Amino acid sequence: MKNKSLVSINDYTKEEHIRILDLAKEFEKNPVQNIMQHHVVASLFFEPSTRTRLSFESAVNRLGGKIVGFSEATNTSVKKGESLRDTILTVANYSDLIVMRNPIEGSARFASEISPVPIINAGDGANQHPTQTLLDLYSILKTQGTLDNLHIAMVGDLKYGRTIHSLVIALCNFNTTFHLVSPPELKLPSSVKMHIKEKNLAYHQYTEMDEVLPRTDILYMTRIQQERFSDPLEYERIKNAFNLHQDMIADTKENFRVLHPLPRVKEININVDKSAKAYYFEQALNGVFVRQALITSILGIK
Ligand code: CP
Repeated sequence: MKNKSLVSINDYTKEEHIRILDLAKEFEKNPVQNIMQHHVVASLFFEPSTRTRLSFESAVNRLGGKIVGFSEATNTSVKKGESLRDTILTVANYSDLIVMRNPIEGSARFASEISPVPIINAGDGANQHPTQTLLDLYSILKTQGTLDNLHIAMVGDLKYGRTIHSLVIALCNFNTTFHLVSPPELKLPSSVKMHIKEKNLAYHQYTEMDEVLPRTDILYMTRIQQERFSDPLEYERIKNAFNLHQDMIADTKENFRVLHPLPRVKEININVDKSAKAYYFEQALNGVFVRQALITSILGIK
């Protein structure tokens, strides 16, 4: 995996995903080490972020590395009209690895094709979010003890949710049964569904989540992605399509857990937070260990 960019989740094999999860487990036991003191990571966020940007920063800082970059492009020479190509070629001079979030689908692939240093895609528009998927897999493994043969319900914006797209593709390696719950307008794109069909896996589509809950191991909730809608009225019409309450998960299986990549809006009531089945804040913490595993693998430290 040394020097190997991660743009789409299937740029890495199933074996490489598992290697990252194994290494993340080691970092979870020992997250503070001085093994990156000779490395600089660049963090280029052209789109807002809390968890992804800060967990990458935390991961690097706890390993003794340096991190440079920006959290909004308005304070950079992009504002003066500099192209993405020139930005990447310049920042590659200052760093060993570039983490980039950008609203344009395909921008991370483009960056990986021109960059002399590896690129990690921290989210490109509505396309993919592969590092979120690695931490989602780690969270599923930790809570279920396995990744194989699970019933996973995905609820919310399956059309624009990049975390969904990457996660579905990764879970196709683990004989998952998919329960896809969305408003009709926000169904999983056929380009992603194709991966499920290629593996002959079972999937079921719903518009309500109630009937799915009793048979589900993992409930993966997502926000309706307001920023991707071209018609604000359509967003207003469906923004409150789902609202998970504590009483709705009372009769779920013992191993049932609620995940969410966050941020949440109203799709999970805060009364769910105190349930032992709510796992989304632990999930966000897992991002530090998984990103430590990913960065050190790409840099050839581990
Ligand atoms: N899960 C996630 O990508 O969150 P942020 O947008 O806060 O980084």
